[in-house]
Amino acid sequence: MAHINHNYLKLPGSYLFSEVARRIRAYSEAHPDREIIKLSIGDVTRPLAPAVIQALHAAVEEQAQAETFHGYGPEQGYDFLRCAIVEQDFRARGVEIDKDEIFISDGAKSDCGNIGDIFSADNVVAVCDPVYPVYVDTNAMAGRAGDYDARRGGWSRIVYMPTTAENGFVPALPDKTVDLVYLCSPSNPTGTALNRAQLQTWVDWANEHDAVILFDAAYEAFITQDDVPHSIYEVEGAKTCAIEFRSFSKTAGFTGTRCGYAVVPKALVRDGASLNALWNRHQTTKFNGTSYIVQRGAAAVYTSEGQRQIRADIDYYRSNAQTIKAGLTEAGLEAFGADNSPYVWAKTPGNLGSWEFFDLLLDRANVAVTPGAGFGPSGEGYIRMTGFGDAEDTRRAVERIRSVLEHL
Ligand code: MLT
Repeated sequence: MAHINHNYLKLPGSYLFSEVARRIRAYSEAHPDREIIKLSIGDVTRPLAPAVIQALHAAVEEQAQAETFHGYGPEQGYDFLRCAIVEQDFRARGVEIDKDEIFISDGAKSDCGNIGDIFSADNVVAVCDPVYPVYVDTNAMAGRAGDYDARRGGWSRIVYMPTTAENGFVPALPDKTVDLVYLCSPSNPTGTALNRAQLQTWVDWANEHDAVILFDAAYEAFITQDDVPHSIYEVEGAKTCAIEFRSFSKTAGFTGTRCGYAVVPKALVRDGASLNALWNRHQTTKFNGTSYIVQRGAAAVYTSEGQRQIRADIDYYRSNAQTIKAGLTEAGLEAFGADNSPYVWAKTPGNLGSWEFFDLLLDRANVAVTPGAGFGPSGEGYIRMTGFGDAEDTRRAVERIRSVLEHL
C-alpha cells in the first residue's frame, strides 16, 4: 500500500492566494454587476518590454532551424544569461560572484520552495512574521514545521520573528537555536527593507552560529534608498552563510513567462559539504533547465534598451504603490512600505480583523486586497495592497476605499 506524505494533511486548507482568489470569484459570481479592482496578488499587468519580446521572437526563430535549434540546455542555465547576471547584477555593485554560483530557474517561488531539499528535516527554521507563505508551507511539507495551530495561525516548530510597526519591521535575532532563516528584503508582504547595518547584524549572527540565511531578493529592483543593499553579498561575510534568490517576475514582468535564479556561493559549506555542489546535484537531477527561449528573453533585460524599458515599468508600479500609501494615509490608516517596494502594508481601522476588512472592502468598495493574517500571526490586523495594477484602476480603488472609510 502506498502511503502519503502526512505532512500535507497538516497544511491549512488552501494556499493563501488560492483562498483569496476563491473568495473574489465567489463574490463576483454572486454580484455579476460589480466591477472588482484586484490589488491582492502581486501579479504584474504591464506587457513584457519590447526588447524582451524581440529576443523571444528571435529565439523562437532559432528553434525553427536545424542549425540554430537548441535541445536540452545546461541545467544550471546558459552562460549568456549567467554572465550577464554576474556583470550587471553583481559586479556593477562591487560584488564578485562566479558564474558557476548562479543557477537559472523558472522563478523564485520554486527555488525558495525547493531549497529545503538540501537541508536536514531536523533543522529549526525561523521566518519573519508576517511572511511570504511559500517559506512556511514548503517547510511544513518537508516535516520541519511541527503542527499547525489554526487559532494562532502558526506552526509549532517554526520560530516566528515578529516584524511589526512596533519594531520598525526589523526582525530581532533569535534567542533560541535556529539553523535556517528566511529573510526577504524588500519584504513581501510589508514592503519595508533592511538596511546595510541590519543585514550585517544578521550575517554576523549566521556566521557565528553556522546558520544559513535564505535571502529572497525578488523585489530588489524597487529599492530607492542607498543604504539598502540589493544583494546580501554586498554585506561582508555573506558568502559563507547566505543563499540568495532573484526573480525576473516583478523586475521584468515575467510572472507568466517564468525565470529567476539562485546564487549559492562556493564558500558556503555546512557539515563539511559544499552547498553549491548539493544544489548543483539537486538541479541536475530534478530540473532540466529553464527554456532556451525564456533565457534569451531574460538576457534581453540586461541590454541598455531592456534596462531602460524595465526601469520605466518598475517606476510605474512603485508610483502606484505611492498612490495607495498616500491615499490610505490621508484616509487615516497607518500605511507602510512603497518606498523600496511595490507593496503597501496597512493597519485595519478600529479593531477589524484582516479577513473582516478584506470582506468589507470587497463588498463595499469592490476592491480586493490580501488579508495580513494570511501571512502569519503578526499579520492579523493588517492588509497588503499591491502597486502592480493599472494606474487608473489603482487611483479609482484608492478613491473607493477612502469613501468607504469615511462612512465607517
Ligand atoms: C504575492 O502576491 O505575494 C506574489 O505575487 C506571490 C508570488 O510571487 O508567488
